Amino acid sequence: MSNHGHLWLPFTQMAAFSFEERTFVRGEGCELIDARGRRLFDAISSVWTTIHGHGHPHIVEAIARQAAKLDHATALGAANPPAVALAERLGALTGLECAFFSGDGASAVEAALKIALQYWRNVGQPARTRFAHLTHAYHGDTAAAMSVSDIALFKERFAPLLFETLPYEALPETLERHDLAAVIVEPRVQAAAGMLIVPEDAYAPLRVARNRPLVIVDEIATGFGRTGPMFAFTALGLEPDLVCLGKGITGGTLALSATLAREYIYAAFLGEHREGRHLFHGHSYAANPIACAGALASLEVFDREHTLAHVAELDLALQPLMERVREHALVREVRRIGLMCAIELRAQEIDAGAAVSPAWRIADELYRRGQFTRPLGDAIQLVPPPAAARTELESFTYALLDALDAVLGSA
Ligand SMILES: Cc1ncc(COP(=O)(O)O)c(C=O)c1O
Repeated sequence: MSNHGHLWLPFTQMAAFSFEERTFVRGEGCELIDARGRRLFDAISSVWTTIHGHGHPHIVEAIARQAAKLDHATALGAANPPAVALAERLGALTGLECAFFSGDGASAVEAALKIALQYWRNVGQPARTRFAHLTHAYHGDTAAAMSVSDIALFKERFAPLLFETLPYEALPETLERHDLAAVIVEPRVQAAAGMLIVPEDAYAPLRVARNRPLVIVDEIATGFGRTGPMFAFTALGLEPDLVCLGKGITGGTLALSATLAREYIYAAFLGEHREGRHLFHGHSYAANPIACAGALASLEVFDREHTLAHVAELDLALQPLMERVREHALVREVRRIGLMCAIELRAQEIDAGAAVSPAWRIADELYRRGQFTRPLGDAIQLVPPPAAARTELESFTYALLDALDAVLGSA
């Protein structure tokens, strides 16, 4: 395979990319197996998607069964049983009764923003058109999701596509504005910004805001147990009007996302067809039956394997492991909530060598030690699948300490 192949990868400099070095051909449990037969612990859950490990038999079987029965049928004006069942199950889990399905996380965010806009129009407040978001926010790479994000690196090339937002720091005053449609927040941790931990009091103004503008919680990275509870917003006392889910929703097997809404939002879209109150938004593969069947099977595995209890055990196990990492001379700080960890390096003390950056040098060293991760700026991330074994977290930690020692020794 050449560097100038036909496949174009996201967030990847293809001129420096080696298909031989980085092609995964199999997944087994929490490991990925590359084309050279090397086994790697998937220390980032394939960017926060994998939950029960790769190729979990219960999910694989559910997907295969559904594919043989009904692979796809449009959701534009037609329902299917797995989508109906999943909407009900997510409603029971979150308290938000209605589910609108899309594909990727950014699509769920786009849908949430458009639902908010059309909601205010439908209830006779069309002036509510503006959005506010947290500092350092990240909600995805499509145009509206980028607009409500705050990481310059991801936005700066695309300014002509973006709209202006209102400052979150001005809350609670901003909440009083009659042009504010919604406030969107990541709960507790901002993953893409480097697992930044949001102080709990940042959410305080939103606890009283329900339906005044709408409050949108983006659980795409944090949902399905990664911070400890099934959903992070439940630990914050928030009662969001809309919740976005993605990534782990299918256990990390298929592209599916959901925008959950409270019943009063949904009700504002009901009326005679000619009134045009129904939601003017949707995608070809919305509510795909195979993906919904995979998601239902993943939720069954949560119950059968007591996944959240296992997450609590891993959370405890990580405490002393991350303490040891924190003490290393090349580590500036460790940020962690549940299974979402960022190890911020003293990057200026690490020679990047031939690597893209100091953190990439460490990530490359980790790859050689059977650990697959991807830096976030100057931080190494550890976001293991909730199904990971305690011993896998120990192996990652020892490999990281060894990689850091090797780099320190070579300085
Ligand atoms: C909080 C959050 N929202 C939205 C997204 C976008 O999801 P996707 O990459 O599936 O479009 C991400 C992706 O990392 C995310 O972390």
